[in-house]
Amino acid sequence: MILGIETSCDETAAAIVVRDQSGNSTIRSNVVRSQLDEHAAFGGVVPELAARAHVTYLDHIIAQACREADLTLADVDAIAVTAGPGLVGGVLVGLTTAKALAAALDKPLLAINHLEAHALTARMTDKAAFPYLLLLVSGGHSQFVLVRGVGDYQRWGTTIDDALGEAFDKVAKLLSLGHPGGPAVEAIAMQGDPKRFKFPRPLLREARLDFSFSGLKTAVRLQAEALAPLSDQDVADIAASFQAAVAEVVSVRASQALERFKAELPQARPLLVVAGGVAANRSIATALANVCETAGATLIVPPIALCTDNGAMVAWAGAERFALGVRDPLDVTARPRWPLDLPDMKVPDVA
Ligand code: KG4
Ligand code: ZN
Repeated sequence: MILGIETSCDETAAAIVVRDQSGNSTIRSNVVRSQLDEHAAFGGVVPELAARAHVTYLDHIIAQACREADLTLADVDAIAVTAGPGLVGGVLVGLTTAKALAAALDKPLLAINHLEAHALTARMTDKAAFPYLLLLVSGGHSQFVLVRGVGDYQRWGTTIDDALGEAFDKVAKLLSLGHPGGPAVEAIAMQGDPKRFKFPRPLLREARLDFSFSGLKTAVRLQAEALAPLSDQDVADIAASFQAAVAEVVSVRASQALERFKAELPQARPLLVVAGGVAANRSIATALANVCETAGATLIVPPIALCTDNGAMVAWAGAERFALGVRDPLDVTARPRWPLDLPDMKVPDVA
């Protein structure tokens, strides 16, 4: 039974998750407080405000997670916390809180890589078996990762500029649709014509598995400036055309990544797992479902509340590591940057 704490961006979150010896999960509680209101006026997450809000709310969120799970902190076996990557002020709030709890309660600490928490979520929700291909598309990340085991990752591609969620957010901002942009762009795109504008599909003809969204965002801006003042229909058509470009890029990349998976792991069942807030986008999810069907691959998209930042995924990653014997020292540091495929992610051999 693991307490998970997440404070690396703009969600203050805590959860209690049980993992049994067969790898079954029970989410006893999963409390998320989003900071949308704190940041709304600024059109994006303000790191200092985020850290302060985590300070204000985290202890209440942890208490609520315990109440909803109907237990006390004395009942948990370990405390898992995001130690990076993320906004370091926020990470420090969660990590310091977790260390204090671990010290006071004499419980083991598990310092979790936030990306690993996203990567392992499909094992909590669907018992996904290793190996699988992960597509992580959030406000901070767009990457393909081969997940071979707990702590055993190989990054196959990433964005060379903006993350996909960030591109949605920037397009929403320049169309005055508010923050966060993804859901707003998706909603307005439903009234629009995805064929009206032919926006670029960056890197599409290249064989690499990387993304680039900044040129696409610039093309959207130039189109919006050329048409200004924009009618409601213009806004909807731009949003729909942007979303169509993105969906095409993601599906071409995903099909290339699945081909690589099949070539490099011929014995494995091809499995694509999606994580991150952009997984909520229906046109992207539909495109990925089609790609998987064509490639003969299985697609797992966990429930959206577990795709976006939450404490349950951190608790689960902690539970997987705990079961393998991992215990982290109380002097672990917060890491603003922490790629998944560093050797220090590996689970050490434990006697
Ligand atoms: O995973 P997440 O909750 O937070 C992190 O970035 O870690 O992802 C948030 C991102 C935001 O950029 C948001 O605009 C995007 O996911 N997003 C969407 C949709 N819902 C959320 N993007 C496209 N379509 C959506 N429906
Ligand atoms: Zn995240």
